[in-house]
Amino acid sequence: MDRKIAVVGAGNVGATVAQRLAEKTLGDVVLIDIITGVPQGKALDLTEAAPIEGHDAAIVGTNDYEAAAGADIVIITAGIPRKPGMSRDDLLTTNAGIMRSVVAEVARHAPEAIIIVVSNPLDAMCHVAYEVSGFPRERVMGMAGVLDAARFRAFIAAELRVSVENVHATVLGGHGDTMVPLPRYSTVAGVPLPELLAPERIAALVERTRNGGAEIVGLLKTGSAFYAPASAAVEMAEAILRDRKKILPCAVYLQGEYGIDGLFVGVPVKLGRRGVEEIVPLRLTDEELAALHGSAAAVRELTASLGKAKAFAGPHPL
Ligand code: APR
Repeated sequence: MDRKIAVVGAGNVGATVAQRLAEKTLGDVVLIDIITGVPQGKALDLTEAAPIEGHDAAIVGTNDYEAAAGADIVIITAGIPRKPGMSRDDLLTTNAGIMRSVVAEVARHAPEAIIIVVSNPLDAMCHVAYEVSGFPRERVMGMAGVLDAARFRAFIAAELRVSVENVHATVLGGHGDTMVPLPRYSTVAGVPLPELLAPERIAALVERTRNGGAEIVGLLKTGSAFYAPASAAVEMAEAILRDRKKILPCAVYLQGEYGIDGLFVGVPVKLGRRGVEEIVPLRLTDEELAALHGSAAAVRELTASLGKAKAFAGPHPL
């Protein structure tokens, strides 16, 4: 195929991303992991499913970044996931070390690629990827808002008993407890949510969205969500590879937009062949803007503490 997508981290999220990319025939897939045998085994398994699924994507598993050469997109899912009682921020030191080593290899072997970061804590990991790669900001982004909005959409659709396809939602800010779901910019068949639901029901759905990741960690106990995160990352990849010009909430490096400077925070962007092609401005109320700035402050604090994170190049201890 004329497109190549490298997926780093062949765990729950990475393997599911690889499966969805191949089944949507978005390009050939290279699955990379630090553990010998795992990416090879999962890639072979996916290859053997191809005749039944009816796609011709080549899926290669490897421990060698050379296979990522010429990749259009690199989706980074390497890192440790949360366990019950952990916040995304608790992953900071370990995952920052992993991110540094991974991105150095990506930048060496696929210098023209667009990076989509999935590893948590998301916004801080984007910062590491941006710094280590030296790529322009158009080519480094994080997957968070699409997932958070999908969770919000799923809860709204269930509450109102309507198709998920009728529901659009906007979630801004960091990918953590301070995220900012925007009911005013969330609609059901074009009708804004505040016209359809009582404020306390909206507040309950917003709260469930904020805790969406933790709710799943609490149920799984041994790891975190992966089906919806993989779907979200693949939607972003598809928008880029097919030059869809889709407007999606993504973590991007802001340089003054929304009054935020020098920080990765989730805002609506237009995704196309060049990556982040536009940062879409939304008119926010004072209250919404204050919530976004509060979320940005939490991201800034976490990102600033990265200076203390140690380099980490070996397999994780869990
Ligand atoms: N290089 C490449 N792969 C690595 C490295 C590294 N330096 N360190 C760890 N990995 C791999 C692991 O070997 C494992 O296969 O990353 C994979 C992570 O997979 P899981 O443990 O199944 O975690 P997953 O649920 O996929 O989550 C990965 O995405 O959603 C986020 O918070 C989540 O940060 C976590 C990441």
